[in-house]
Amino acid sequence: MRKIIIDTDTGSDDAVAILMALRDPSVQVLAVTTVCGNVEMEQATVNAFRSIAAARTYVPPVYKGAYRPLMRDAVTAENVHGKDGMGDIGLPVPDMRPENEHAVSAILRLVKENPGEIEIVALGPVTNLALAIMMDPDTMKLTKHIYSMGSGGYGMGNVTSVAEFNVFVDAEAYKIMVESAVPKTLVGIDICWLPGAFFEEDEIEEIRREGPVSRFAMDCNETLIQYCLKTRGKRKLDLPDPYTMGVALWPEIVSEAHDCYCYVCTDHTPAYGQVIIDYRKFHAVDESRLETHAPNANVIKLVDTGLFKKRLRETLRMEE
Ligand code: RIB
Ligand code: CA
Repeated sequence: MRKIIIDTDTGSDDAVAILMALRDPSVQVLAVTTVCGNVEMEQATVNAFRSIAAARTYVPPVYKGAYRPLMRDAVTAENVHGKDGMGDIGLPVPDMRPENEHAVSAILRLVKENPGEIEIVALGPVTNLALAIMMDPDTMKLTKHIYSMGSGGYGMGNVTSVAEFNVFVDAEAYKIMVESAVPKTLVGIDICWLPGAFFEEDEIEEIRREGPVSRFAMDCNETLIQYCLKTRGKRKLDLPDPYTMGVALWPEIVSEAHDCYCYVCTDHTPAYGQVIIDYRKFHAVDESRLETHAPNANVIKLVDTGLFKKRLRETLRMEE
């Protein structure tokens, strides 16, 4: 049984990824850790409870994490996910409480207790992961794998032309995570924008009819759907975090990926938050000239969007 920790800034697309993991019998979610991103950390924690309850399976412990980025002021995205981060559809607040232990301590403890087994799926800014790496790098080296939704991948950003939100919020943290020794996979925002990757309006309506969990997954994304209408002229849905969870849960959906050297820009220029991805295969001609860096991440380039959607709908579908 795979053991995973979900680190999340629980906006509405994170919520769908949490549903996927909790309803997949092949993984055990040992913890959900929350971080400031789409919404403030306290709201992300409430939304984690909402997502856990909506999954209708089991209740993993929830640990509160960083309430702000390492160095910068918090940047949130209520305009994209709603004031409450979950589509402002009046979802009830479940009677759940976070653990007393801080998220960073919980991550370090669980990795130490399960050496070589913990897979961390990071769906927001990686402030918690950076703090864990800085606090105890030797323990974090025992992490089996980090899957991160972050960067523009092989394309553009969504906050600036070069910066994707999770990196833009805390590029200093992203640099620490990317440069750490932990094996890692990056899923850029480009993946959920691939041809066929968006959920079109008719698909959304079909999925809503596949049971209470599927309906929740679509309804909590209403603000994101409206944001697509405003920015792309159509009601449709892009789901970066579910694609990242899909890569983690169902590696068979990956059709192309490269081991890359990734460099995170943290200088306070228009490049802030850019992740420069270099997957050239160096053929050393003149050693003194070549600037060679060993790869530090596997970066997803293509996924089978049809297979992803099939697996997602199977996972969420449930009789009324
Ligand atoms: O840029 C998309 C990412 O930022 C997603 O993880 C979304 O939930 C927000 O955190
Ligand atoms: Ca997220």
